[in-house]
Amino acid sequence: MEEFYGIDLGTTNSCIAIIDEEDSVTVVTNEEGQLTTPSVVAYDEDGSPYVGTAAKSNMANDPERTVSFIKREMSNDNYKRRIGNIDINPIDVSAEILKKLVRDANQKRQDEEGKDPIHKVVITVPAYFGNAERTRTMEAGKRAGLEVISLINEPTAAALSFGIKNRQNRTILVYDLGGGTFDVSIMKIQNGVMDTLATNGNHQLGGVDWDEQIVDYVLQKENFNTTCKELKEHDMANYGSLIIGAEEAKKILSTPSREKTTLRYNYKGIHNTEITRSEFEELTIELMKMTDQLIDTTMEMAGNPKLDDVLLVGGSSRMPMVKAFIEKKFGITPRIFEPDLAVAKGAALYAAQEEKGYTEVGIQLGNDKGSASYGVAAYVNGKEMVCNLILMSDNLCVEKTFDEFSTLNDGQTSVRVALYENRVNKSLCEVPMSILLQDGDVTWGYPVPKGTPLKYVVNRGKDGIIKVHCEIEGKTADFVINTKGVSLNR
Ligand SMILES: Nc1ncnc2c1ncn2[C@@H]1O[C@H](COP(=O)(O)OP(=O)(O)OP(=O)(O)O)[C@@H](O)[C@H]1O
Ligand SMILES: [Mg+2]
Repeated sequence: MEEFYGIDLGTTNSCIAIIDEEDSVTVVTNEEGQLTTPSVVAYDEDGSPYVGTAAKSNMANDPERTVSFIKREMSNDNYKRRIGNIDINPIDVSAEILKKLVRDANQKRQDEEGKDPIHKVVITVPAYFGNAERTRTMEAGKRAGLEVISLINEPTAAALSFGIKNRQNRTILVYDLGGGTFDVSIMKIQNGVMDTLATNGNHQLGGVDWDEQIVDYVLQKENFNTTCKELKEHDMANYGSLIIGAEEAKKILSTPSREKTTLRYNYKGIHNTEITRSEFEELTIELMKMTDQLIDTTMEMAGNPKLDDVLLVGGSSRMPMVKAFIEKKFGITPRIFEPDLAVAKGAALYAAQEEKGYTEVGIQLGNDKGSASYGVAAYVNGKEMVCNLILMSDNLCVEKTFDEFSTLNDGQTSVRVALYENRVNKSLCEVPMSILLQDGDVTWGYPVPKGTPLKYVVNRGKDGIIKVHCEIEGKTADFVINTKGVSLNR
């Protein structure tokens, strides 16, 4: 029987899980014997990449040849970095991380059980990822020599993994605070099927932002007359060593028995700076508030359901302030559920479900959704706007017809259809706030008066595929957007 693999391609750590012949889900350890692999890539003098703990240790010594937090750059069209004579780009760096995970897992499984190499996988992405990042993640999988069956949203994967063990009907909020991204999703499990009611997030908010607050605190307390941001831009070596120290301090302050710690670091000489848990919590209050606001908008989008459970995933959810915040906000003691492994395990479960329609594994994934709105450009009161046809908060699997559109000028013989993605949960959005996904013309070839009607029929399927059909003067054009990745086809 076939085996199924799920990969959590994280900002700071990545992980690969498998469902074996006995339907059991396990995480495969890497060559170093670790369950998770640091998502850090370093390049030797001869340009050969190496990944994981060795690369992470290189961060402070040789930051010029080390790449970390690449996931935060997946949407950055202008990312530019050169190491030696290699041009670095987020897709190739991500592919190196995937290759290391798969190579190690293959090695282990061949050595132990003589298994075939891994080929088909599901990769996880933050729910907040837009189409560009999803497409690039799929491409990274391809460049690593993998067939990516599908992408799945990280909170959804975690909830799927959790749901397997807790099959009762329930509404769950998943709070996923990782190293570089924050996602919140509200999921409903009913009669063995799990639907996403709403999801939202910020892919520039994660554990490293907490670490950077500690670095700023230290620099200020010791009167160094610089900031973490300045070091990051102009002095990567010192940024690297301070951030590693700050992360350690954060982890110590997250241990219930430790109220304070001393950061020992080498910046213009050896120094020791003390920081207490309450100082740390005070410093990062604004970051917690950012997660709070995202929860509020997501709850509103989901219709403010009564929650039965709050699930904490992601390494940063181990900070006691997160648990305390959830308890205060919802009066629910949250469950910390395999914060490092649940996402990869959920992805493996989803792979089994997608490929085999597996029911043995428990909960089925019903409607999942991303956190974007999709619309077309049109002139509204003389100004070009994006008119959203599908809102972030819309339910899936509905077909809607929009017939309020018409031609703008007398004598038009064609119209341009431009499809956009944005994060605005309203029917109208400014064009610069949107990203163009696809465009094309519908041509009928003879002039028509202005105001000639134009119709859009829109449908979003369970599979994450959005279809937009445009009709005017008996001519039609069809567009397909796959919100789970894959290329964008007309
Ligand atoms: N015990 C701990 N206390 C506090 N923070 C921790 C602890 N252990 C790990 N972290 C933090 O968790 C973060 C890594 O979490 P995780 O591995 O879930 O992220 P990721 O999956 O790589 O990132 P993302 O989901 O954002 O792409 C780091 O910022 C790390 O410092
Ligand atoms: Mg993660």
